[in-house]
Amino acid sequence: MTARSPFARHGLLVRWLRGAWLGWVALVLLLLVMTQVVKPRVGEFMDYWYSVPADSAFVEQAAALRQTREQQAIQSAWITGAAPVALLFLMQLLVAVFARGEELDEEDGEEEAIVVIQPEPVVKKPNPADRTVIRQSVQPTVSPPVAPVASSVPADDSLQLSLEGDGALYIGQGGRYRIDRLLASGGMGSVHKAYDKTLQRDVAIKELDVSLAQDQEQSDRFRQEALALAGLAHPHIVPVYDLVEDNQRFWIVMELLSGGDLEDRIEKNPPTVKVATNIIRAVAEGLAFAHNKGIVHRDIKPMNILFNVDGIPKLVDFGIAKLVQSQQSVVHTREGLSLGSPTYMSPEQVKGKKDIDKRADIYALGVTFYKMLVGEAPFTGDAEEVMRQHMFETPVSPRVSNHAVSLELEAIVIKMLAKNPADRHQSLEEFISALDAIKNT
Ligand SMILES: Nc1ncnc2c1ncn2[C@@H]1O[C@H](COP(=O)(O)OP(=O)(O)O)[C@@H](O)[C@H]1O
Ligand SMILES: [Mg+2]
Repeated sequence: MTARSPFARHGLLVRWLRGAWLGWVALVLLLLVMTQVVKPRVGEFMDYWYSVPADSAFVEQAAALRQTREQQAIQSAWITGAAPVALLFLMQLLVAVFARGEELDEEDGEEEAIVVIQPEPVVKKPNPADRTVIRQSVQPTVSPPVAPVASSVPADDSLQLSLEGDGALYIGQGGRYRIDRLLASGGMGSVHKAYDKTLQRDVAIKELDVSLAQDQEQSDRFRQEALALAGLAHPHIVPVYDLVEDNQRFWIVMELLSGGDLEDRIEKNPPTVKVATNIIRAVAEGLAFAHNKGIVHRDIKPMNILFNVDGIPKLVDFGIAKLVQSQQSVVHTREGLSLGSPTYMSPEQVKGKKDIDKRADIYALGVTFYKMLVGEAPFTGDAEEVMRQHMFETPVSPRVSNHAVSLELEAIVIKMLAKNPADRHQSLEEFISALDAIKNT
């Protein structure tokens, strides 16, 4: 499917030269030690060893022998020093050949796992331009500072929020869910790993920030996210299990996706073209399902694509999703809101158009695809600069930095990133057929 250059982004030579850092350090040390330490010391040593009185009959032989021995000593020192350096470079070459071979095998393999499972995500903060922007026409109600979640709420069965004897925080009727630890804190609240005592399994619980929960619009938005998700039962969309509401506090209970997010994956273990294509295709299937139910996600980005324990990618965060048919937000957003994450925002979202449709998601999926293939998004910089580029700049071809991208794949990605929605694929089904057409050639 692709023309591959040995000097592609993760080519053998680059991989070797980058990986052999210990060899480089040893080489510099060798040069320093040999020129600054060994050579002068050998001279001193030889002077001492072969010194004979000037009037001795052996003075000439001693001088000749001294010179020969000095040369031999310096040669042996070079050889002994160079051997470990060469060994280090050779070992790294073997490592690079092995790693490259595995990567090529992976690309050529017919049946390929879509993803590699990663360790559980840690709490993290995205770059400003990657963050979801929720620009409001009306300021949210400012509430007085509220104690952290584990406030001194007495244990009480009638309460949805309770502290039990073990000091852990429980939510839900009868304290069904035990909050274990914070996974991430985002724009609207935080996500915790939790345990469902009834079904005896780990779950993820998204909590609406206490200060936002006081605001009617934000709590409606949160409740509607749960409702939107509940209507979207699909293998590539996170399943929602429960919505807990208590005294103006809100929690969405859903499947725990412990395989990390796509952003991490791109950074730590850049996918091959084939793996990237498989992930995007899977996400496109989930997103197409949402589109066909009339829901536009509006915040497609690698941080909102998570992997479960089996490495299956799933779409999360329908917090700013919108129901298209009725031209009503799923979350009753007011007019004039500008939503999305600058790095992934379509030109029409940047312009603040009201009739955003599924083609905005196709653009954002294109940015995500581009980032997977190239290692970084097509437009970078601060939020305003990125938004200007979305409107006016042409993205650099992904093939410039990744030669493994075929001409056909490049054409698809560039089409997804068209400024005018009419020039993009008009549906994800059309996009998926285009991807499959490459596979079958
Ligand atoms: N089901 C889940 N399992 C594990 N982690 C999750 C889950 N849902 C969300 N997260 C983590 O929490 C972060 C924020 O959740 P998200 O739904 O995207 O809300 P926000 O609106 O704050 O971006 C995600 O990027 C991810 O790291
Ligand atoms: Mg998110």
